Amino acid sequence: AAASGNVTTGDLRKIDNVAHRGATGYAPENTIAAFDKGVEMKSDYIEIDLQRSKDGELVIIHDTTVDRTTDGTGFVKDLTLDQLRQLDAGSWKGEEFTGEQIPTFDEILDRYRGKVGILIELKAPELYPGIEEQVANELKERNLHIPQNNKIIIQSFNFESVKKIDQLLPQVPVGVLTSSRAHITPEALQEFSAYAEWFNPNYGLVSKDLVRQIHELDMKIGSWTVRSQEAADFLIDMGVDAIITDYPDYVDPRK
Ligand code: G3P
Ligand code: CA
Repeated sequence: AAASGNVTTGDLRKIDNVAHRGATGYAPENTIAAFDKGVEMKSDYIEIDLQRSKDGELVIIHDTTVDRTTDGTGFVKDLTLDQLRQLDAGSWKGEEFTGEQIPTFDEILDRYRGKVGILIELKAPELYPGIEEQVANELKERNLHIPQNNKIIIQSFNFESVKKIDQLLPQVPVGVLTSSRAHITPEALQEFSAYAEWFNPNYGLVSKDLVRQIHELDMKIGSWTVRSQEAADFLIDMGVDAIITDYPDYVDPRK
């Protein structure tokens, strides 16, 4: 394996290193600065949170309001792209990031295709009717719905939305996100495996037994959010397939 990024453990198992909202430990989440840092740190994927502006443009931001991560206020869905682009999405994290903007989905696809995998989270898709079709079209326009052209995974906490994406883009792997114990019963896992390639739980839910069950159902498991070396080491030991981390260097075999 490369010196960092895709980790090879003693038993030659590969673990995908996913920069959570970019390398959020080092730069403001969901900005080009954070995504570039993830690429520089040799992550296999960047994770992005996708929402939609008032005038229908797909944008990258985690919260449903702009309050925490920009100098503005209000719901993402109530602001136009123009209004969103005028906000400063960097300075809350440090003066050196002043001027970072909320990226658009277009910008991310054009900048990172062919350079790094993209783990797309549909954030609160229930607020954005038709967002699944819109995402599918954007990917198709660029031929990114064909897996060999780029590593793309689409995930959500909203399982209906994941099912919809699976039907629209049958070749693109999809994942279900959860932090609920109710979703790790054999029955629930079986149901997810009917359409999802990935089961992506909060790391508090992860055990070797859960990893075994996921693999027996022919799914992969990616877990989040690593913010300490201990958490990274725990997930490597559990045998997960992907680690979604604020600090890509914690998932580094040289450490
Ligand atoms: O990729 C998993 C993770 O991003 C889910 O939680 O709240 O950080 O979007 P959140
Ligand atoms: Ca996310």
